[in-house]
Amino acid sequence: MNKLPEYVGILGLGVSVPERVLTNADLEKMVDTSEEWIISRTGIRERRIIEDGRAPSELGIQAAERALEDASLAPADIDGILYCTFTPDYPMPPSACILQAKMGIPPCLAYDLNAACSGFIFGLQTAYGMVKSGSAKRILVVGADCNSRFTDYKDRSTCVLFGDGAGAVVVGETEKGRGILGNCAGVDGSGAFLIYQNSGGAVHPPAPDNVHEQYIRMNGREVYKFAVSVFGPAVEQALDKAGLTIGDVDLMVPHQANIRIIESAMQRFGFSPENVVINIDRYGNTSAGSIPLAMDTARQAGKLKAGTVCVLVAFGAGLTYGATVLRW
Ligand code: ACO
Repeated sequence: MNKLPEYVGILGLGVSVPERVLTNADLEKMVDTSEEWIISRTGIRERRIIEDGRAPSELGIQAAERALEDASLAPADIDGILYCTFTPDYPMPPSACILQAKMGIPPCLAYDLNAACSGFIFGLQTAYGMVKSGSAKRILVVGADCNSRFTDYKDRSTCVLFGDGAGAVVVGETEKGRGILGNCAGVDGSGAFLIYQNSGGAVHPPAPDNVHEQYIRMNGREVYKFAVSVFGPAVEQALDKAGLTIGDVDLMVPHQANIRIIESAMQRFGFSPENVVINIDRYGNTSAGSIPLAMDTARQAGKLKAGTVCVLVAFGAGLTYGATVLRW
């Protein structure tokens, strides 16, 4: 048997967002809201919305192709695919299979993983375990969501928040000292219906009278409280697993759901804006795409360099949460 890898981490990163922009001024014409309310309560200025007729997997595939290119790898080098999404192209087949065929990746373990906005973190941690245990060598982890396809643009409490976007990474063996150092993940299913879609699943299958129930419904205030309560402990637990403390962290990469949730975490840890990635103003909440998009923003700004210790942290529907500490 080959020696198991000691260090496992991200070998390449790629992202993809639609061209179409939905601004706060656009939303002012659609619902009773204001630019001032949206910016002050959420930090969002604009978000990207996938063009009509395009499949969400087009974004996931483009991000994955860019991640492979970034890692200087070919489709034949991949032996696992985790496609993290709650907005797949179809309930079945899995988007992971669509991506495998379109990219020409050899037959391998490939499936969709739904942990809503925590999806990318859950996928990253699963891929880490698979590579560490020797069941795969290089796994493509895609985080891709097109929230706009399930957003009710008559509901001001949700439609201002969401956008569409995708990111992908290749997870594999890294050089000594680099890669994933600690993980924490959890769920609290007692909050399952604080953010949910009531139809489209097998309890209420699609029917002419329940089409509107497929839209995302949310108790924003309760989800907000949950987010603030789990962000800090999740980061601390992942750091503990890594044998590090908050003082060792160069960069926090938080899920981009609400600027106020991010600011509360900054306050708790005493982080300044230089230590935190914020791109919510441009993209809104892109669910599973959020963390890899934020990593890309950090890299473009020169904040994610070889050796940077960062902590990725997310929460989402489920309710779910997770954090991963890694050295880039
Ligand atoms: N424009 C103007 N007013 C609004 C809007 C809007 N777009 N949306 C809500 N309001 C109003 C409400 O009707 C309410 O009015 P009222 O006091 O007369 O009843 C008032 O603003 C305050 O509403 P709250 O819900 O208390 O506003 P809050 O400050 O909590 O902000 C928000 C709402 C932005 C939704 C916040 O609660 C939040 O970000 N929650 C977290 C949501 C989240 O992150 N979800 C992510 C999970 S996503 C996933 O996993 C797919």
